[in-house]
Amino acid sequence: MAAAVAAHVLVFAFPLQGHINCMLHFATALAGAGVHVTFLHTEHNLRRLGCRAPSAAGSPLLRFLSVPDGLPDDHPRSVADLPELSKSLAEGATGPFHDLVAPGSPSSRAADAGADPTGGFPPVTCVIADGLLPWAFDVAEGLGVPAMAFRTASAGNFLAFLSVPNLFELGELPFPAGGDLDEPVRGVPGMENFLRRRDLPSFCRRPIDTDDDVDPALHALVDRTVHSRKARALIFNTAASLERSALAHVAPHMHDLFAVGPLHAMSPAAATCSLLREDDGCVEWLDGQADRSVVYVSLGSLATISLEQYTEFYSGLVAAGYPFLWVLRPDMVGASRGQDATTPQEAIIRAVGETKARVVTWAPQRDVLRHRAVGCFLTHAGWNSTLEGVVEGVPMVCWPFFGDQQMNSRLVGAVWRNGLDMKDVCERDVVERTVREAMESAYIKGTAQALAQQVRRDVAAGGSSAMEFERLVRFVKDLNT
Ligand code: UDX
Repeated sequence: MAAAVAAHVLVFAFPLQGHINCMLHFATALAGAGVHVTFLHTEHNLRRLGCRAPSAAGSPLLRFLSVPDGLPDDHPRSVADLPELSKSLAEGATGPFHDLVAPGSPSSRAADAGADPTGGFPPVTCVIADGLLPWAFDVAEGLGVPAMAFRTASAGNFLAFLSVPNLFELGELPFPAGGDLDEPVRGVPGMENFLRRRDLPSFCRRPIDTDDDVDPALHALVDRTVHSRKARALIFNTAASLERSALAHVAPHMHDLFAVGPLHAMSPAAATCSLLREDDGCVEWLDGQADRSVVYVSLGSLATISLEQYTEFYSGLVAAGYPFLWVLRPDMVGASRGQDATTPQEAIIRAVGETKARVVTWAPQRDVLRHRAVGCFLTHAGWNSTLEGVVEGVPMVCWPFFGDQQMNSRLVGAVWRNGLDMKDVCERDVVERTVREAMESAYIKGTAQALAQQVRRDVAAGGSSAMEFERLVRFVKDLNT
C-alpha cells in the first residue's frame, strides 16, 4: 500500500486586510494542528508586510509565498478599485497559482526536493481559497487538487446572497424606488422576524444616482456564492451559538460545512498581518485611563467618510464626554484638510487635548479591545471587528458602511443585543445618545459579557467550533488517503 502523502494546504485569501486577518488565523491554527500550510499573499502585500523570512510565520509548518496581483505597485488599491483588483488578480495570478498547485510543476518540484528556500514542503494536496476567488477553485480542481471555500463574512450574509433569486421571485427585490427601508423582508429563511430591507447586504439597495434597478455587484456576489456550492466544503469564521439558524439553512446547499470561529480567539498569535503600521503607543495611552471609560472608534480597513460625516461623529463623541481612541486611516476622510491646512487628526487633538483623545492611523485592535479601559466599541461592523468585539465582551455601537456590515449590525442590535445599531443615521445628537447608552447600559454590558463567555466556550477544547476544527483537520488529512 502506498504511504499517505503529508497534507499540505494552500490557503489563498483575497488581498484585503479583512480577508487576510481571519484566513491567516485559520492558516496558523492548521499549522498548529500539524498540517503544512502555504499562505498565499500577493507580491504587493507581502512586500508591505515584510514577512518574507520563514521565521516570521512562527511555525516551521507555515510559509508565505506570493503571486502578482496584476496592478502596478503604486496603484492605490482603494475600495473603489475593488472590481479592478478582482479582475487584474484573476488575470495576473492564474498562471503562477497554477504552477504552485500543479503536481510536478517547477515550484512544486523544488519544494519536493527540499530545494525550496522556505523549507521542503510536500506537494499541495488541498486548496482552501477565499470564496471571492472562484477561479482559484477551478484551477485547483482542474489539476485534480481538491478545493474548499472559505468565506470571511458571516453565514447569514452568505444565506442572504443564496436567497437573492428567491427575493426576486417574491417581489422583495428590487426595492421599490423611494420605498421604506424599514419594511420587513420575507424570503431569507430563519431571518423573517428581524430582517428589514436596510439590513440586507448593501448591494441589494438600488444603485445611487442611476436608473438601474439592480447593482451589478449584487449579481457578481451572487455568482460567487453559488460557485462556492461546488467546493468540497465551505468554511465559515463563525460559531454555531452565534449563527445556528443561518448555518442550518446554508448546510443543505453544500457538500459539507464547517463553522470554526471566531478564529482569532482560537489560533495562537499569528504572524503580523497588518498592512498598515500599528501605533503601539495607544495601548500606553489606554493604561493611563480609568476602567471602562474609553470609547474605541474604528471603522475598519476600507471605509471612507465624508468631511460632513466626520464632523458629525467628532461632535457627537466630544458631546458624549468620554475619552476616545479613534483610528483615522490617512485615506479615510474625504477632502480631509481644512482651510488652515489642519488634518482631522490634528483638529481633534487641538480641540480636545491629548488626555481626552488619541488619534492613530492604525491600532493593535485586539490588544485595544481587550484593554480594561475600553468601555465601548464604535465600529463599522465588519465581520472581523464584530467577532473581536464579541469575544472581548465589549458593548458595541455599529455604524455600517457596505456589504455584509448592514446585516452584522442588525445581529448586534436586534439578535444578540450586545450593542446598538445606528445604521443610516449620521447626526451628532444620535452619536452622542447612542454612545452614552452603550457606555452606561447595564443590560448591554451584561448581554455582551454573557455572549463573550458563550463564544469562548465554543472555541475552547470540547466546544462546538473547536470540535468542528478538529473534524476539518481530519477532513483535510483524509483527502490524501
Ligand atoms: C470588510 C468586511 O466588512 C468584512 O466583513 C469582510 O469579511 C472583509 O471586508 P474590513 O473593513 O476590513 O472588512 O473590516 P473587518 O472585517 O472588521 O476587518 C478589519 C480588521 O482590521 C480587523 O481584524 C481589525 O482587528 C483590524 N484592524 C482594524 C486593526 O488591526 N487595526 C485597526 O486600527 C483597525
